[in-house]
Amino acid sequence: MPAGPSASRRTVLRGAAAAPVAGLGLAACSAQGAGGPDAAAPTAPVELGVESEIAKGAAKLYRDHNVVVSRDRTGALKAYSTICTHAGCPINKLRGTTLICPCHGSEFDAVTGKVVQAPATEPLTELSVKTAHGRIVAGPAA
Ligand code: FES
Repeated sequence: MPAGPSASRRTVLRGAAAAPVAGLGLAACSAQGAGGPDAAAPTAPVELGVESEIAKGAAKLYRDHNVVVSRDRTGALKAYSTICTHAGCPINKLRGTTLICPCHGSEFDAVTGKVVQAPATEPLTELSVKTAHGRIVAGPAA
């Protein structure tokens, strides 16, 4: 009966094929979100945008560079890495001056870098920021 062993082998293969898919689903959920596993804050200074686009008390998220820049009430600029300090997801949402991580819901204050909602416990990594010819340049802390 040649059909018997062949059919059961197909069944086994189908079962084996389903397992990696489930594994990938878990990995995608727990790991890096939209930015992929290599998402990182700049390792060298990057030009982000026009200085005037950030008003006092406001913030702007530069998703492509994983950086948020904010301006406090005195007019001073601050920049932070938006790689979440909980498990490394790139943060992709800014509501007002609150950054919201898509992976487990941690929230950070974009003006101070501090955690405002767990599960993260560590503040965002501060970056250096300056303006050059009216444009914002951020990079690793000096
Ligand atoms: Fe878990 Fe951001 S990686 S909340």
